[in-house]
Amino acid sequence: ELLACRNDLLKGKKVIVTAGGTREPIDPVRFIGNHSSGRMGFAIAKAAVMAGAEVTLVAGTTDNLKTPVGLARRIDVGSTRDMKAAVDSYYDDCDLVIKAAAVADYRSAHPAENKIKKNDDTLTIEMAKNPDILYGLGQRKTHQTLVGFAAETTNVIEYGTKKLKKKNLDMLVANDVSAEGAGFKGTTNIATLLFPDGSMEKLEKMDKDELAAIIVARAAAIMAKKNS
Ligand code: CTP
Ligand code: CA
Repeated sequence: ELLACRNDLLKGKKVIVTAGGTREPIDPVRFIGNHSSGRMGFAIAKAAVMAGAEVTLVAGTTDNLKTPVGLARRIDVGSTRDMKAAVDSYYDDCDLVIKAAAVADYRSAHPAENKIKKNDDTLTIEMAKNPDILYGLGQRKTHQTLVGFAAETTNVIEYGTKKLKKKNLDMLVANDVSAEGAGFKGTTNIATLLFPDGSMEKLEKMDKDELAAIIVARAAAIMAKKNS
């Protein structure tokens, strides 16, 4: 609870947090989505507000979560491309981006204009790759600090380290979503924080609120070090 107290760790900083899942339409009434609850991202948004930041929360689909009090703004989005447009539009003068959202890697290549009718025994939907929002931010990073997430089921550290490098991140929160007490749905998470110098911090299973406070504190420390 100490960690949830107000502090000045991000005082005056502009922070973008993405949360929840994206939805990719396949016809006017259907979509492909994922099980993200949005809990981790909302907890981070709250922790960033508590730390004195000006917070823009870009929210995909969530489990009907309460909007944290004290946000600068909340932008609700549907598809990955909608999320990218929202994030990009606030990126240039923001100081920190934390990308907790579960972003759809693919979308329907040709969403049907009318409701798809039930005809054949099988239905094939061609999928096209979505833009990688975080990769794009990493490519045009100037003063910003970038924090990504990686949901893995195997080789968590190895895959996480690859993502950290490839996306030009300052920190990656890697979690094994197959572990008991971790992942999309629950209120707890088990994470390892990875850093570009190869160091890591393995965290115990804890409440997402508690993990959020740690992520914010570590991000703030990275930003302080950059400016020193
Ligand atoms: N991400 C993103 N845009 C995408 C896909 C992912 O910004 N189109 C972000 C996520 O929000 C997360 C990080 O990249 O912070 C890693 O997402 P993850 O799904 O673990 O990695 P991918 O790069 O998509 O690789 P893969 O799914 O193949 O493991
Ligand atoms: Ca992915």
